[in-house]
Order: sequence, then structure tokens, then C-alpha cells
Amino acid sequence: MERVNFNDRVAVVTGAGQGIGRMYALALARRGARVVVNDLGVTRDGSGADTSAADKVVEEIISAGGKAVANYDSVATMSGGENIVKTAMDSYGKLDILINNAGILRDKSFLKMTEEEWDLVMNVHLKGAFCVTQPAVKIMKANNYGRVVFTASISGLYGNFGQTNYGAAKLGLVGIMNSLKLEVAKYDIKVNTVAPNAWSRMTADVFPPEFEEKMNPQFNEPMVLYLCSEENKVSGNIFATGAGWYGRTAIVSGDGVCLGDAKRSISVEEIRDNFHGISNMDNKREHDSGLGMFEYMGPLLS
Ligand SMILES: NC(=O)c1ccc[n+]([C@@H]2O[C@H](COP(=O)([O-])OP(=O)(O)OC[C@H]3O[C@@H](n4cnc5c(N)ncnc54)[C@H](O)[C@@H]3O)[C@@H](O)[C@H]2O)c1
Repeated sequence: MERVNFNDRVAVVTGAGQGIGRMYALALARRGARVVVNDLGVTRDGSGADTSAADKVVEEIISAGGKAVANYDSVATMSGGENIVKTAMDSYGKLDILINNAGILRDKSFLKMTEEEWDLVMNVHLKGAFCVTQPAVKIMKANNYGRVVFTASISGLYGNFGQTNYGAAKLGLVGIMNSLKLEVAKYDIKVNTVAPNAWSRMTADVFPPEFEEKMNPQFNEPMVLYLCSEENKVSGNIFATGAGWYGRTAIVSGDGVCLGDAKRSISVEEIRDNFHGISNMDNKREHDSGLGMFEYMGPLLS
């Protein structure tokens, strides 16, 4: 079986100074990619800045015979995002792969959440993905090729106590993906999202100690590398990973019930009396775009 390789590919991995992002950077470089190792070098809550996080990973790659360059910009501003992409262009002349991975936590229950805690998390995860992906996709579009991965979380997809800010930002990335995949489809740019689970400084005080070995961050890497490979042809999908488990997850809708009648209004009682059918997910389906939802209303619109 032919080995998946990234020869001649240039990749940017944000937040690659440690944890899961470091695994992506090391693996991409081992398989031939030239890698921009971006990391602001902050603490788990986003404080401070330290160039050594990115430098160490670059050294590790170079000493193993690979090619990499460090970048220390924050993903959370457009100038930072542009500079991250410029680092790839100045160093290697192109950009094929972007893994949006940088992240912080400011956990707090919803009623205690401050505006600052909300904004910081939104800025790094959601705005950060916009700020790096927009300049990256400009280059990918010009080259008619690209692979983009966003990093969501099961917290955003399904919820987690104390993470309304983080969960909103993470599910927001799915929103970016859903529209971006349509806008770039004709340029062979595939856009996907992962929801990883791994032992890292982000989870070390959440997971039980035995998870350190079982939730090795390496387990997330092969899924993301496959999505970044030329062989990957899917776009707009969400994959969850962790502890050696890999699966696709999706936003689906049920058939619902057509109650409409252009000539009259619908009452609350009709909703109540049809609630079972409205809620039924037996025949659940995915949709390539929001327009798919209009199929259900078809009989009422024709
Ligand atoms: N570990 C998990 O179980 C888990 C679960 C779901 C999602 N995630 C997501 O996976 C990604 C990686 O998480 P991790 O566990 O490896 O965390 P980590 O804290 O080990 O690594 C995150 C890295 O991002 C960097 N970073 C933070 N803010 C930045 C900024 N503004 N600009 C550039 N770099 C910045 C940090 O310096 C750090 O090196 C994050 O997006 C996280 O939300 C992780």
C-alpha cells in the first residue's frame, strides 16, 4: 500500500508548540511537508507569550531531517493571520494545508462568565480561524488546491458544563466550514472539521490520571493528516477522534410535519398536537447546504 505523503506540500499548523498541534507538525514533516510551526506560547488561559514553544518543535523537526520554520504571531488578529501565511510564502513560496488548531480555555459557568472571558475565547478560536483561513484560502484558490481543517470540540457539538464560551466558538467553526466548503468547492479546496480528544495541558486536570496514556494526542494526528492529504476528497464533514476511536458526526434533521396552509395561520395547539411528528428523527438526513431544508417545505411552496 502506498504511503500517504506530503512531498512538495507546505503546511501551516497553528498552536503547534505543544499538545495535539505539535503532533500534526511533527507528522506532516516526517511525511515530507515543509511546516510553519505557529505558536504564541501562551498559558492555558491565553496569558503571556513565549517563542520557545514554536522554536522547540522546529528544532525537533529539523534535527529529524525535516523542514520547518517558526512563527510566533497570535491567530487572533488579521495582521497575525496574514503574517502566519506570509511566513509560509516567504519561506517556501506556497501554502497547501492549514490546520487551525490554536486554542485556550476560560471555563466558567454561564452566569459567572465575564465579557472578557467570552471575548478572549471567541477571539482565539473563532475569529482566529477567520483571520488565518482567509489569507490562506486566497493563496489556495490561486493555486487551485488546498486542505483546511478546523478544530471544534465535543463541547461545542454536544455541550459541556462551564464551557458556553468555548462551546459557542467551537460550534461556530462548523458554521464557517459549512459555508466556506461551498465557496471554495470548485478550486479543489477541501474544508473539514475535527473534534479531537487528548491528554494535554488543556485536559490534564479534567481527565483521570490513567487517561494520560490512553488519550495520547498522537491518536488524533492520522485522521487530520488524512483529511489534509491529496487522497482526501470529502469536504464539509466533522470527525471526532480520541483514544484510538475515529468516527464521523453530523448535523441532521428529521422529516418534520407539513402543517402550512397559505390561506390560514397555524395555532399553538397544532404544534402541541403534532409535537411527536415534529420531533421525530427516524428518517434523519444531512444537507449539503441550508437550501436542503427547503426540500421539506416543497409541497407547501409548489
Ligand atoms: N485536548 C483535548 O481533549 C481537546 C478537546 C477538544 C478540542 N481540543 C482543541 O484542540 C486544540 C489543541 O488543544 P491542545 O489540547 O493540544 O491544547 P494545548 O494548550 O496543549 O495547545 C494549544 C496551543 O495553542 C497555542 N495558542 C493559544 N492561543 C494562541 C494564539 N492566539 N495564537 C497562536 N497560538 C496560540 C498555545 O500556546 C498552545 O501551544 C485546541 O483548539 C483545543 O481547543 C482539544
